[in-house]
Amino acid sequence: MKLLAPSILSADLSNLAQQIRLVEMSGADWIHCDIMDGHFVPNITFGPVIVKAARKCTKLPIDVHLMIENPDNYLDDFRNAGADIISVHLEEVVHLNRTLNKIKEIGAKAGVVINPSTSVSALKDIAEYIDLLLIMTVNPGFGGQSFISNSERRIVEAVELRKSLNANFLIEVDGGINKDTIKSVLKAGCDVFVAGSSIFHSDNISAATAELKNLILT
Ligand code: DX5
Ligand code: ZN
Repeated sequence: MKLLAPSILSADLSNLAQQIRLVEMSGADWIHCDIMDGHFVPNITFGPVIVKAARKCTKLPIDVHLMIENPDNYLDDFRNAGADIISVHLEEVVHLNRTLNKIKEIGAKAGVVINPSTSVSALKDIAEYIDLLLIMTVNPGFGGQSFISNSERRIVEAVELRKSLNANFLIEVDGGINKDTIKSVLKAGCDVFVAGSSIFHSDNISAATAELKNLILT
C-alpha cells in the first residue's frame, strides 16, 4: 500500500475546501494536518476547528500530527473534530502505551512520531501496539525545509523492526518530500508520504499531486 498525504500546513487556508478538492481529485489518499502549539515546536498553526473544517470538505482519512505539549489533553477534541489517525511525538509523551490505548479507545488509529535525532530502536517496546510510525525527515515546526539525508537508513531500520516484531504498522515520512526525494524513501520501504510545500506551493496543485502519486505507484 503506498499512500500520498498532502499536508494542509502549506495550503491556502482561506480556500481550504478548494485546496482539498484539488488534491483529492488528483490522487491524495489522506489529508495531513500539522498541529503546532508554539511550545513543543517553535511555531503555531491551528487546532481542532481547522480539522473540523477539513472534515466537512472531504471523505478522505484525516491524519493529525500533534506537535504539541500534553497531547493527552486534546485527543478527544481532535477525534471529535474528525481525526481518523492521531499521532503523538515519542519525545513528548511519558506514558506512551497509555496514550496509544486512549487513541484506540476513542476510535482513531494510533501513531507515534519520532524526531530526526530520535533512534528507531527507541520504539522497540511500543512498535507492536502502533498503527502508524511517522519518521520526521525534517526538524518539526515548519514546511518547506530540506530533507535530512540519513532518513532512508532510518526507514530501513523501521522496516526491519516491524519485521522482527511481526508487527503491521504503516511507515510514514514527513518533511522535504518532493519529486527529487520521494523515490529514495519509497525504495527504503516507506508506505505513506506527507508532502506540503511541494504540492501547495507548486504552480499547479493538481499536477504536483498527480506527479507524486505516480512516482509512489511506479
Ligand atoms: C513539519 C511539518 C512539515 C509538513 C510538510 O513540522 O510536519 O513536515 O508536514 O512540509 P513540507 O512538505 O513542506 O516539507
Ligand atoms: Zn506533519
